Amino acid sequence: MCGIVGYVGYQDATDILLNGLAKLDYRGYDSAGIALVHNNQIKIDKYKGKLEVLAGHLEGENRPGKTGIGHTRWATHGKPSDANAHPHPSEDMSIAVVHNGIVENYKSLKNELIENGVTFASETDTEVISHLVRSYFDGNNILEAVSKTVKRLKGAYALCICAANEPGKIVAVKKDNPLIIGIGENENFVASDVPAIIEHTRQIYTLSQGTIALVTADSVELFDEDLNPITAQVEQVTWSAEAATKAGYEHFMLKEIYEQPDALQNTFGSILDGEAIEFEDFPLDKELLSGISRIYMAACGTAYYAASYGKQIIEKIARIPVEIDVASEFRYKNPIISEDTLFVAVSQSGETADTLESLRLATTSGAKVLSITNVIGSAIDRETRYAIHTNAGPEIAVASTKAFTTQVICLYLLAIELARLSGKLTPEEYKGYRKAAFDAPEYAKSAITQNDAIKEIALKIAEAQSVFFIGRGVDFCCAQEGSLKLKELSYIHAEAYQSGELKHGPIALLQDGSPVIAVCTQSTELFDKTLNNIKEVKARGAYVFAIAKKHMESEIIDEVDDLLLIDDGPDELSLIPAAIALQLLAYHTAVALERDVDKPRNLAKSVTVE
Ligand code: AGP
Repeated sequence: MCGIVGYVGYQDATDILLNGLAKLDYRGYDSAGIALVHNNQIKIDKYKGKLEVLAGHLEGENRPGKTGIGHTRWATHGKPSDANAHPHPSEDMSIAVVHNGIVENYKSLKNELIENGVTFASETDTEVISHLVRSYFDGNNILEAVSKTVKRLKGAYALCICAANEPGKIVAVKKDNPLIIGIGENENFVASDVPAIIEHTRQIYTLSQGTIALVTADSVELFDEDLNPITAQVEQVTWSAEAATKAGYEHFMLKEIYEQPDALQNTFGSILDGEAIEFEDFPLDKELLSGISRIYMAACGTAYYAASYGKQIIEKIARIPVEIDVASEFRYKNPIISEDTLFVAVSQSGETADTLESLRLATTSGAKVLSITNVIGSAIDRETRYAIHTNAGPEIAVASTKAFTTQVICLYLLAIELARLSGKLTPEEYKGYRKAAFDAPEYAKSAITQNDAIKEIALKIAEAQSVFFIGRGVDFCCAQEGSLKLKELSYIHAEAYQSGELKHGPIALLQDGSPVIAVCTQSTELFDKTLNNIKEVKARGAYVFAIAKKHMESEIIDEVDDLLLIDDGPDELSLIPAAIALQLLAYHTAVALERDVDKPRNLAKSVTVE
């Protein structure tokens, strides 16, 4: 996520902005910048790289200005670069904007602005905001110009905007992304999060959805989207700065589990902005597809389980053969790939050594190479010709959560688009599959809202020596991911098996009380088969916790010890709530065992060595 800081008051703003941005570094970023208003002019300094790069350029420079906005950028649209860094100005430098979030309809707005003669200086979605505000600005109506602008925006955003000839004013807007106002003495602050301002004040307004704020040194006026005045309660911040980085959650992992509905929305938002499915950096069309006869995916860990889902969903809907491998195997097996292969590297960090070397091998073998990463500008992102980005925001916890579910939604949308282009779907079928993606955030919530129930299950397995995870089809991908989560977080041994495989040996391991986690969210045939496997393990004394859809409750409730019911959504996306349920199960088990949840032993967030 990006970081925003704004200041208006009696002090020079530069150091306040830089120090505030530094306190937001946990949000992850790849570039930083500030804009200062002075003598009816805006001066912008912004650079790719860490805050030290920006500070280095400012060293010794005279940057007066008691009104300013600052930003640390986590790239979503457009690679990390000086030009793509925020703040973004209007062409005449009369307006400057910093933005956290995604403008889903930026392409249509950008086309409209270009037709009106605007020249863009960056690849970002944010820049459309600067030019729109300018188009409504008459010289001293910044509040009204911003109000008109945000009515045109679709997506999630927190904004800070200043105008050259309205010094002493900042306009802040909150929609879906967090933004607070810090109340000082003859000075006021705007920030994405408490840590940025906590050294100056603990009196804040937490802006509610849709609020537009006009901030001056000695006043904060709040308005709704139509500029009707509204009020808000001043809150006293009692958190420590460290607690605030987790937004009040005990661990980054829990925060990132709860962020998944928003992360999913941010990921598919601009992909589905138009009538079709459009990947920003992957111009998939009939011509490109005509040169692809098979797909090969390579990844590691959780990303590999997302790839295994990708295999199933692409083969099911698009009927294109897909091979998958863990990257550490792929690169040494002399794989059979050629020009007619689409190689897909899946990676949250975009820095995993085995995955990076695998895509290099695929590239030299002549394959078309696509990456699905969460970090724009990462090594894997830079080295692949085609890219799909999961806009999950930075994932701080070592255990991957929101990266996984956003990888799943990207692979789901890829499968539908491949199917449409290869004529495997009727227009009606395509529309149905496409609509289901919009429901993914609510689908995810059907697991998140059951956090307390899942915590109770965790307490039942926390003392286990070993845990089995079983499932069939897509449910097996979920079982594998759930097994990895439990292993890496709680240090309890766990294994995932296709539920039909148990009787071919593993069932010998079962004894009274052996925990078996059964994922059975798929429809009838697979459900019935898995139910039979549940009965097999129950007959050997196992303890069974199952995840199923609500409409299957009567069929399964009497066959298991504990049951978690998710919404009756599509089979193709039931992996999302089911995986979230298993993320929470692993999380609470680890907490019960007092493990280091965000930094489990022996693990690194990004495995950049072989
Ligand atoms: C997942 O929870 C683990 N932290 C690990 O398996 C991870 O998925 C794997 O190292 C791949 O990382 P990547 O997605 O950044 O390439």
